Amino acid sequence: SRTVHRGPGGAVSVAGIDVTRLAEEFGTPAYVLDEADFRARCRAWADAFGKDADVFYAGKAFLSRAVVRWLDEEGLNLDVCSGGELATALDAGMPAERIAFHGNNKSVEEIERAVAAGVGRIVLDSFQEIVRVAHVAQSLGRRQRVLIRVTVGVEAHTHEFIATAHEDQKFGLALAGGQAAEAVRRALRLDGLEVAGIHSHIGSQIFDTSGFEVAAHRVVGLLKEVRDEHGVELPEIDLGGGLGIAYTSADDPREPHEIAKALGEIVSRECEAAGLRTPRISVEPGRAIVGPTAFTLYEVGTIKPLDGLRTYVSVDGGMSDNIRTALYDAEYSVALVSRASDAEPMLVRVVGKHCESGDIVVRDAFLPADLAPGDLIAVPATGAYCRSMASNYNHALRPPVVAVRDGEAKVIVRRETEEDLLRLDVG
Ligand code: LLP
Repeated sequence: SRTVHRGPGGAVSVAGIDVTRLAEEFGTPAYVLDEADFRARCRAWADAFGKDADVFYAGKAFLSRAVVRWLDEEGLNLDVCSGGELATALDAGMPAERIAFHGNNKSVEEIERAVAAGVGRIVLDSFQEIVRVAHVAQSLGRRQRVLIRVTVGVEAHTHEFIATAHEDQKFGLALAGGQAAEAVRRALRLDGLEVAGIHSHIGSQIFDTSGFEVAAHRVVGLLKEVRDEHGVELPEIDLGGGLGIAYTSADDPREPHEIAKALGEIVSRECEAAGLRTPRISVEPGRAIVGPTAFTLYEVGTIKPLDGLRTYVSVDGGMSDNIRTALYDAEYSVALVSRASDAEPMLVRVVGKHCESGDIVVRDAFLPADLAPGDLIAVPATGAYCRSMASNYNHALRPPVVAVRDGEAKVIVRRETEEDLLRLDVG
């Protein structure tokens, strides 16, 4: 987050608010999200891509009504991938035209809601879905604008679970072997569909632009094929999300303008060479917008030194508020934020309070040796895929999201209560 400072007393403040005050007022654990930083990142993406391109924020990274309003105000579009995300977007007033609806197994009911609401694009993910969406659109008397999601066969250098462009996986239709071309052929024949273009998403937490460039090159190749076969120039290509962020100092992320430049150049060069009109480009960053804008604030509980090994530092949350370490071997950093300390660094593992040993928040880190129960520690870069993947494991209560801006703090998603849990338990 861009507005984090350490004050003279040693405590850290964000957007002008001391973290000790945040902990007192809102409790721990809590996700603290810097609204100005979020908005600045939206603008950086919008500026980098300019008026001839569209930026869709990927709501799966973190979505709430406040986030939808900020996106709307900053002029971004929104990518949703479930009925729940769609409901949140519409409830908060995002114009349906600026929503794209994704998913490899959208239900007919979800498709009906999306078409009826008038979403700008539905991203088609299978032959069956081409027919389903066309059918729904026709029965509602609509012509639905769609993109066709293709797998371009790029090996993205990221964790297996979040790489999505190799062919042996559930998303999209393969370019290789002609499935994607066949999908375009079938979709063009259906009255209920307006085929606007091609979509590709190669994966997530990616640090170099080459995978995106190869994807752009192959997608333009399909545009050529479509033009040659049908005489139709599809006006749009969406190159998905996936730009990585710095979780630790070892990570070296690309900036939005680098991606924009690389994609813009390759698409216009290749289209020119092929005599195609340059299509409108869109992208779908999630993590790169919201990830760096939040940290998780925890209170230190039990501290257990293991002789000659490391010290286990337990916090009042864990894998229920950040599953990424356990699930993807994700790396995070951690800092003591409630006071300054000159003590020697000690090797720690920050763990949660859940009933399994895989409940690790930060696998390897250093904290001052005088760390004590009651200290506050913060894990940065938890804005993406932490609250959105949070669970109630062990009947944990999911933490609130507190938005800070210009010296003011506001809860945008409140902490769960035991009443919330019991309300669902109707047996
Ligand atoms: N567009 C599509 C079609 C996607 O599937 C995704 C992410 C995005 C955009 C946004 O990607 P981003 O810019 O945030 O990397 N839970 C995992 C990440 C899963 C990403 C799934 N799709 C994690 O915590 O790393």
